[in-house]
Amino acid sequence: MEEIIVTGGVRLKGSVKISGAKNAALPILAATILTSEKSRIKNVPKLEDIRTIYKLFKRLGIMVEEDGDRDREVVIDPSTLNSSEAPYDLVKTMRASCLVLGPLIARLGRARVSFPGGCAIGARPIDLHLKGLKSLGAEIGLESGYINASAQRLKGTNICLDIPTVTGTENIMMAAVLAEGETIIENPACEPEVVSLSEALNSMGASISGAGTRIIKIKGVTELKGMDYSIIPDRVEAGTFMVAAAITQGDIKIEDCIPEHVDHIIARLRDAGMFIEEGEDWVRVKGGHKIRAVDIRTSPYPGFPTDMQAQMMALMSLSDGLSVITETIFENRFMHALELKRMGADITIDGHSAVIRGVPSLSGAQVMATDLRASASLILAGLSAKGDTIISRIYHIDRGYECIEKKLEGLGAKIKRVRG
Ligand code: EPU
Repeated sequence: MEEIIVTGGVRLKGSVKISGAKNAALPILAATILTSEKSRIKNVPKLEDIRTIYKLFKRLGIMVEEDGDRDREVVIDPSTLNSSEAPYDLVKTMRASCLVLGPLIARLGRARVSFPGGCAIGARPIDLHLKGLKSLGAEIGLESGYINASAQRLKGTNICLDIPTVTGTENIMMAAVLAEGETIIENPACEPEVVSLSEALNSMGASISGAGTRIIKIKGVTELKGMDYSIIPDRVEAGTFMVAAAITQGDIKIEDCIPEHVDHIIARLRDAGMFIEEGEDWVRVKGGHKIRAVDIRTSPYPGFPTDMQAQMMALMSLSDGLSVITETIFENRFMHALELKRMGADITIDGHSAVIRGVPSLSGAQVMATDLRASASLILAGLSAKGDTIISRIYHIDRGYECIEKKLEGLGAKIKRVRG
């Protein structure tokens, strides 16, 4: 298994380009199933999770043609779709595989999708996806670990989500675009990735309004065409590099990002004493001599993203005071805290909150990545620590960060990947 070794102490400087967003690319790729026409998707990040969805597409009989040199372009040809099953071995590798549920029911009138099991960061049920699809008229049964769904043609309806679930909103939206009549989703997720999916679906001929607000309205259409769409920049990758500048007292220009999508991260980093400039598609972060302690509470967009909580915890470990980070989205997303403690961080977990007493420095240690964002936080901690940090189970990072060590190396970091 591969490990990453980071030798800390270098102030990162320079510019870095942000890749396409994993969490926008996954639902948009799933949406290509809604038609038999070809779709052309640009700026698709080269990530393990994206490879997993291609594997799933191949099992479904869908052709995937990657043209890496041309704008990270992928052509999806779903005309050969000949299966409606998302099997266990792929769903267990990536929960987001269940994003094909809505599109398969809408296009084929049936889907058989392995029921996602537990996850390192929380229980992550999909009851709200299923409730929404049932309200649209799908018959849903559970058998031998699989969700069996069927419907003649889905019928538009009013769906009020108890929790603004991101992939739940996306699954329901994708099912509803081909339903008969109007669907109204109340309390949907407002994340930029949901807005981007609605734009992509509208470019296929769907009629969706209100994405990004508290009510989404979808007027069902009878068919959709292929799309030609470019994936939005990854706001979590952008935020991670912003923290990299802050934690190393560096100076990084983060290019090809959408500053509005990282507003909340910018605000918290300014509170922590960082100097931040913004342009139309870039953010420049300069680390100060001190890191001020700030409290953070994760919440659905436009609040502080749970996907940036672990990275901010690494930063707060080095603050000049006491900060409290409260995680409100997932019930078990503090695994990185125990690894940060191995590096000398002073963190106490109390239910959904972590109390972090800043220390003057961290020291390199052998640590283990437990999930995607936890791995990012350990790399960040390693960048600032004294000595070498050896991070195992690094395959988690490849699920969501494209060439992270190359990008960090370009900023001066001493980082290498080795076989463990
Ligand atoms: N929830 C339910 N029932 C449901 C669905 C969700 O109770 O049917 C709960 C979850 O257990 C959680 C909360 O609702 O407590 C919010 O979960 P949500 O459904 O919004 O999360 P998700 O759609 O499974 C996406 C991202 C995650 C990101 C979360 C929150 C994708 C592919 N994944 O997950 O990304 O953390 O939204 O913003 O879009 C990551 O990239 O590292 C990652 C985990």
